[in-house]
Amino acid sequence: ELISKGNHRHYMLKEIYEQPIVVAQTLRSYLQRMEERVTLPIPEFDLSSIKRVTIVACGTSFYAGMVAKYWFEQFARVPVDLDVASEFRYRAPVMEPGGLALFISQSGETADTLAALRHARSEAQTIAVVVNVPTSSMAREADLLLPTHAGPEIGVASTKAFTCQLAVLAALAANLARAKGKLKPGEERDIVRHLAEAPAALNGALAYDEAIQAMAGVVAGARDVLYLGRGTDYPLALEGALKLKEISYIHAEGYAAGEMKHGPIALIDENVPVIVIAPSGPLFDKTVSNMQEVQARGGKVVLISDYDGIQAAGENCVATITMPKVHPLIAPLVYAVPVQLLAYHVAVAKGTDVDQPRNLAKSVTVE
Ligand code: G6P
Repeated sequence: ELISKGNHRHYMLKEIYEQPIVVAQTLRSYLQRMEERVTLPIPEFDLSSIKRVTIVACGTSFYAGMVAKYWFEQFARVPVDLDVASEFRYRAPVMEPGGLALFISQSGETADTLAALRHARSEAQTIAVVVNVPTSSMAREADLLLPTHAGPEIGVASTKAFTCQLAVLAALAANLARAKGKLKPGEERDIVRHLAEAPAALNGALAYDEAIQAMAGVVAGARDVLYLGRGTDYPLALEGALKLKEISYIHAEGYAAGEMKHGPIALIDENVPVIVIAPSGPLFDKTVSNMQEVQARGGKVVLISDYDGIQAAGENCVATITMPKVHPLIAPLVYAVPVQLLAYHVAVAKGTDVDQPRNLAKSVTVE
């Protein structure tokens, strides 16, 4: 094989470990560190007339898009429509002229996403694509090509492409916000500084690999696992559940923490581990109160938070995973690492084919 696994047992693990470097590499095209400005690969591309953004993708790329929806709305105050490509294409979506249609894809070849792109083109949308393969079909058909520089991703379950997509999308949100005049003085500088901290924070997250491996047994024996998060950690919960399903074949669901009381709480007992993704920040207390509802019903909680969060709420958890304390903007990138590593170690414990899980393909070219 052309690309080696290096010292790693699987491509997936190698790709998880590459994240600090490839995210830094990706950010280089989107941040002007000296000027403390965000930029685009086509700096003159004018985003000021964008009235609406439609985000479409599949799988892990869709969850990156879901995080981006929070950012575009929060920073740029632009309404965002978001859908999986296989639904978008067939639901007669309304796209007013002047909209930006944004497609996110590692491969740039996923058939549903490509079909959705062509549909948006026929509806007079400006086409932006976030892709990892710069020679792909989607890259060729874009008006605004936003490459991720993750390098080739071999593991079927996407890891480093996801965090690189998040890096690009955060920068795009900031570019859009500036173009729309929505950034407060100093805000662009702060965004650049926070994003520039992501590679070191990803390294900090990787330092907990052994601790995650040591607690993977809590999950490996389970038949069902629930992941909870709020805000941009909600898509992370969905991504965590997807990773676990993909490579360990354990049934897992991601849920918005506040929505748990409307159904999934009925599933809670001592046999269902609940992974709570809750960095310190404005939503922490709310998530913790949802977590306590789980604990009150005998649920076994694994809390992923930073030191302060674990000090405040880790007491009755069966396990805790400590992350570096980071600004909420980069938390989705940093918290991707423990959910990836947890899925990885559970899969290894179960002896599955981590890089080539059954029934899954790296790039899905059928609709
Ligand atoms: C497949 C892969 C996933 C990926 C999804 C979307 O299902 O197994 O890892 O997230 O396709 O792929 P794309 O290349 O469009 O990001």
